[in-house]
Amino acid sequence: MTSSFSAELISCRNVSVVHGTGPAQVSALLDIDLAVRPGERLALHGASGSGKTTLLHVLGGLLVPTRGVVSWQGEPLSTLDAAGRGRARAAGIAFVFQSSNLLPTFTAFENVAFAAAARSRTDDLDRRAIGPEELLGLVGLDGKLDALPAELSGGEAQRVALARALAQRPQLLLCDEPTGHLDSDTGIRVLDLIDALQAEFGFAQVTATHDADVVARYPRDLALRDGRVLAAEVSA
Ligand SMILES: Nc1ncnc2c1ncn2[C@@H]1O[C@H](COP(=O)(O)OP(=O)(O)O)[C@@H](O)[C@H]1O
Ligand SMILES: [Mg+2]
Repeated sequence: MTSSFSAELISCRNVSVVHGTGPAQVSALLDIDLAVRPGERLALHGASGSGKTTLLHVLGGLLVPTRGVVSWQGEPLSTLDAAGRGRARAAGIAFVFQSSNLLPTFTAFENVAFAAAARSRTDDLDRRAIGPEELLGLVGLDGKLDALPAELSGGEAQRVALARALAQRPQLLLCDEPTGHLDSDTGIRVLDLIDALQAEFGFAQVTATHDADVVARYPRDLALRDGRVLAAEVSA
């Protein structure tokens, strides 16, 4: 293992998550250790209920683990309050979900512009901003700037969601079954696009999936079962 602490973009140490209380308690993650380096591509693999979404939410600071520590760029993320986690997220962590979750009354352009505006509030001024139009061009939707989400196909909506994620200029892109609602050809095109954008922008990518064909695209794979890491990791 070559990763010195400073080479880690994000890490989990002994992370466990218990959802709910009392008899309804579910142990969703147990003693997860994971480090992701800048620019790395990792698949989170596991059946439904294995803890993939919970782990992505922990990595993204949406959920505080019951035990253990999450560090973002060497700083503890899981001990920050909600506002602090929100700032850390805004400064470099973006999500793409199974559903595109676009704002239904906003156009494609406005959905991306909204995220770009949120980003620029937290920004250092000397970094080059890519405008919503250019971002939508990067995902092949130049002709759909004024379309509402309901006027887009599933694949197009997911590409808008990707443009919106890029508007945050992420260093870490967390994808939760990003092709789960797409037919397989469209899904492959979306995954190809994510990889092309990653090659251009260099963000790290953690993608949750239960699809072995998707896992096979990634140089590294963390398999979960019942909240535990199942398989030895395969490194590229
Ligand atoms: N908010 C929640 N409250 C209670 N149980 C939950 C909650 N979210 C997830 N779980 C449970 O935690 C386990 C892991 O869920 P999840 O992380 O969504 O897995 P996956 O994404 O792999 O399907 C499952 O047993 C699920 O039912
Ligand atoms: Mg899930």
